[in-house]
Amino acid sequence: MASLLEVRGVNAWYGESHILHGMEFDVREGEVVTLLGRNGAGKTTTLKSIMGMVGRREGSISFAGRQTIRLPSNAIARLGIALCPEERGIFASLNVHENLMLPPKVRDGGLALERIYELFPNLRERLASQGTKLSGGEQQMLAIGRILRTGARLLMLDDPLRRHRRRPSLRDGARARRRHDPEPSARVPHGHAARVPRGLGPVGTDP
Ligand SMILES: Nc1ncnc2c1ncn2[C@@H]1O[C@H](COP(=O)(O)OP(=O)(O)OP(=O)(O)O)[C@@H](O)[C@H]1O
Ligand SMILES: [Mg+2]
Repeated sequence: MASLLEVRGVNAWYGESHILHGMEFDVREGEVVTLLGRNGAGKTTTLKSIMGMVGRREGSISFAGRQTIRLPSNAIARLGIALCPEERGIFASLNVHENLMLPPKVRDGGLALERIYELFPNLRERLASQGTKLSGGEQQMLAIGRILRTGARLLMLDDPLRRHRRRPSLRDGARARRRHDPEPSARVPHGHAARVPRGLGPVGTDP
């Protein structure tokens, strides 16, 4: 099957800092791809590069057969790529409903509001609340629900569980040593992409 997204030889810079060195991966329709890497490895920069949100990028990023490397981010969004940023981007001046309705639809086939409320019942209960008065997890639901409505074909979720994963505690370390386990950490080389075969088709980072 042809790839929906094809990233080839992508380099990206912030000013003089050369961050991405030849990133390559594919995402096919209906596939979940997870980017794994240590802090500072360049996962967020990869997603921003796909979205056209870094100062300078080179290489080839094609989406549904269309080359996007020279397009501005608003044109990339209209092609059907959506980014849910790590900082979520919830507007404090808007309530939950207004935040949900803010991004324009880019295609037919996005989730209906009713379906979003079924997926995230907390949002229905807080419709009139100021967006930033929700809990961290609820704001994450709002940020994800917002892009599900747009009909985007590729959903990129940056670190969606960062604030919700349990951090290893000192006690975990002591337990691991008693059992002679290795350190409770998993290291994956910079830029390594792990494939998960089923799902809605987002690219996420750090599951
Ligand atoms: N706006 C910026 N200006 C300059 N350098 C930046 C900027 N944003 C990130 N960097 C640098 O780019 C590198 C990659 O950062 P990036 O945010 O892509 O990492 P990451 O893999 O998402 O890390 P984390 O797991 O901590 O989210 C880091 O060395 C970081 O310091
Ligand atoms: Mg990041």
